[in-house]
Amino acid sequence: MTRFLPALMLLVLAACDGWPESPRPPPPAPPPDGAVPRGDAARRAALASPAPPVDAALLAEGAARYAIFCTPCHGATGRGDGVVVTRGHPPIAPLPPDPERTMAAIAANLAGAHPVADRLDARQRWAVARHVATLRAP
Ligand code: HEC
Repeated sequence: MTRFLPALMLLVLAACDGWPESPRPPPPAPPPDGAVPRGDAARRAALASPAPPVDAALLAEGAARYAIFCTPCHGATGRGDGVVVTRGHPPIAPLPPDPERTMAAIAANLAGAHPVADRLDARQRWAVARHVATLRAP
């Protein structure tokens, strides 16, 4: 009998036709009306365009954050004439006024020169981006 066991096993296995297809789970239900996003969802919503509205307070906050985090390289007016350039850093191009590019540069730590994503919350990033948009560097 043991001589035929392997052959028997092969026969049994050959009869296997795989597992039957499981039914697909239903898609997740959408959030109910009035739900307030939290955690990651809240962060993504805060970073999404076009929040928040531009007003004097936002621009003032942006100017202050820009002076702290950006002037050393980009200069006070965004021309790329910050102090690092006067001390040997290769020239830096003038800042583009598009707020989305500022948001992207911070989010992606562009060129390893923008490691400030954890120091500027969503509102502050928008504030800096709006401030940069007012610079109109040549
Ligand atoms: C350590 C120097 C340094 C600091 C500080 C710095 N940047 Fe930059 N930034 C650069 C360099 C260098 C480039 C050019 C990168 C390249 O050539 O790809 C650049 C490019 C950019 C660009 C252009 C992105 C594009 O789409 O071309 C934006 C916008 C920008 N920086 C915004 C900022 C803002 C806002 C801050 C302050 C929160 C900041 N940077 C702080 C060095 C710096």
